[in-house]
Amino acid sequence: MDSTTQAAFAGRAAIVTGAGSGIGRATAVALAREGAHVLGVGRRRDALEETAAAHEGIEILDIDICRDDAPAKVVETAVERWGRLDLLVNNAGATAVMPLAEVEKQAITELFALNVIAPSMLAHEALPHLRRTSGTIINLSSTYGHRPMSGGAHYSATKAAIEQMTRSWALELAGEGVRVNSVAPGPTRTDVMIHAGLTPEAANEMYAYERDRIPTHRIADVKDVAHWILRMAEPAGRQVTGQVITVDGGLELI
Ligand SMILES: NC(=O)c1ccc[n+]([C@@H]2O[C@H](COP(=O)([O-])OP(=O)(O)OC[C@H]3O[C@@H](n4cnc5c(N)ncnc54)[C@H](OP(=O)(O)O)[C@@H]3O)[C@@H](O)[C@H]2O)c1
Repeated sequence: MDSTTQAAFAGRAAIVTGAGSGIGRATAVALAREGAHVLGVGRRRDALEETAAAHEGIEILDIDICRDDAPAKVVETAVERWGRLDLLVNNAGATAVMPLAEVEKQAITELFALNVIAPSMLAHEALPHLRRTSGTIINLSSTYGHRPMSGGAHYSATKAAIEQMTRSWALELAGEGVRVNSVAPGPTRTDVMIHAGLTPEAANEMYAYERDRIPTHRIADVKDVAHWILRMAEPAGRQVTGQVITVDGGLELI
């Protein structure tokens, strides 16, 4: 990495939701290493503190982003601290195993609240500040946001929604200098399946099944995904908006 890239985010302020684990933690740390001031957001304070311990450029806010008052509070916290906002990474999200035969209204509502509504309201609150900085939004989708997922229709639908919002917001805001892109990971080694209620054994089985199917035969590391979040977000990427970059070892090709 050359010195220009290392300083790609120098003096810029970023919000990363879901920064207490997995892809969000890797993204917060990578952004701070490249010079950004980062506000890491999540519900578990102890998990966020572990992320913050990795780099002095990371500050934290423990809050449930689905709360009505949370999006304004999150954005206000970053802007009060650094006087600006350049980047919103809508990373916090959940998956759910929910075949049609087992669908529950409450589970669908909660999934959409976290994966679709919260990122929308965060983007809404961030917008006036992003307009001032010609800032950018990265929405986390999934390779299953644009291919079917047996047993995961509603998760897949939330990610399809975020991809469509990405394209529509990109078009809406391009003339104002605000870019909106999506990073769509394939299977990536995190606790996401544990958080969805799978046992560690069931999660391992799922990863083994996916590894066999992935053309590169490799489950992604969180750093593989964070890399593309940063590269899509950095100011040098200014000509790219409304795109979904899939980081899945070729899974979407089969
Ligand atoms: N891992 C994969 O294979 C994969 C594949 C495709 C897409 N993705 C997407 O990548 C993103 C990150 O997932 P991950 O794999 O890193 O999973 P993860 O480790 O489970 O991370 C999700 C994060 O979101 C936070 N979060 C959940 N609900 C929240 C809420 N109501 N308010 C605030 N924060 C909340 C969690 O922290 P708290 O529990 O402390 O709140 C957690 O840190 C998600 O959008 C996911 O859908 C992951």
